[in-house]
Amino acid sequence: MTGRLEGKVALITGAARGLGKAIAEKFVAEGAQVIINDLHAAPAADTAGLLGGRGIGADVSDPASVRAMFERVGELTDRLDILVNNAGISGLEGDNTARDRVAQMVARAEQAVVGEVLPDNSTMELADDDWLKQIGVHLNGTFFCSREALKFMTRQGCGTIINMGSVMGTFGRPGNTPYCAAKAGILGFTRALAHEVANQNIRVNAIAPGWIHTDMTDPLEPLHPLLRAQTPQGRLGEPDDIAWAAVYLASEEAKFVTGQTLSPNGGWYMSQ
Ligand SMILES: NC(=O)c1ccc[n+]([C@@H]2O[C@H](COP(=O)([O-])OP(=O)(O)OC[C@H]3O[C@@H](n4cnc5c(N)ncnc54)[C@H](O)[C@@H]3O)[C@@H](O)[C@H]2O)c1
Repeated sequence: MTGRLEGKVALITGAARGLGKAIAEKFVAEGAQVIINDLHAAPAADTAGLLGGRGIGADVSDPASVRAMFERVGELTDRLDILVNNAGISGLEGDNTARDRVAQMVARAEQAVVGEVLPDNSTMELADDDWLKQIGVHLNGTFFCSREALKFMTRQGCGTIINMGSVMGTFGRPGNTPYCAAKAGILGFTRALAHEVANQNIRVNAIAPGWIHTDMTDPLEPLHPLLRAQTPQGRLGEPDDIAWAAVYLASEEAKFVTGQTLSPNGGWYMSQ
């Protein structure tokens, strides 16, 4: 079936590549017009160009940058039907100790399989900036963009917001507490906002992906065999596994779905 998003206008953050790009591709195939955000204008424009959409560079963690982005959205279109708060970071970006950190993750995960828990001082040693950056991009960014999108959606009397959570927001995992905290915060924000705007015909849901092949998870390659072994379906996910979930949540098929978390994860984690 195609045409499920015919005539809709969607803004997808962090969509120059990865899950956001896959979501944008499926949205276009279903008839939507897309506005592609990413941190830098050039990659956003490149991806938008491939999809017949428009690109906007903006930092979702910066409220002034987000306001400027939505002003631009207002110049491009008089309506916004779908916002996907997808922009994200793993915390390994630009970290020259990333290889060692991943090696430690593998060692810990292997030890956990045999019932041994190695001491982990990651949080004790975490720098303020590393904490603030994760909360800033994921949780603050989701709030800043939702706040602006709601101005369109309340005016037009309809809309849908999809927030990118993670299995880490519920399951938790040692070694990256800011990521887990930010993603848990996003799930709480999703439920509260869904209550708040339900009677204005606006739905708010989250997707909590499991482990998916993207540039973000590439550096975790040494961990992949273990993740595959832990996953009942025996594989990591592909970006379209998440994009299909976004199409469903954005479409009329999900008209009675709000405040929910949909978690495509191959069975790695079975409770959200
Ligand atoms: N890949 C996975 O296994 C996985 C699992 C669970 C959740 N997620 C979440 O899905 C989302 C997408 O992840 P991905 O795997 O596609 O990652 P990715 O690194 O491939 O893409 C993330 C995009 O977000 C952009 N971005 C980063 N900071 C930004 C900012 N401040 N403002 C605007 N854009 C910014 C990046 O430039 C990049 O294009 C993230 O929120 C991530 O936490 C991913």
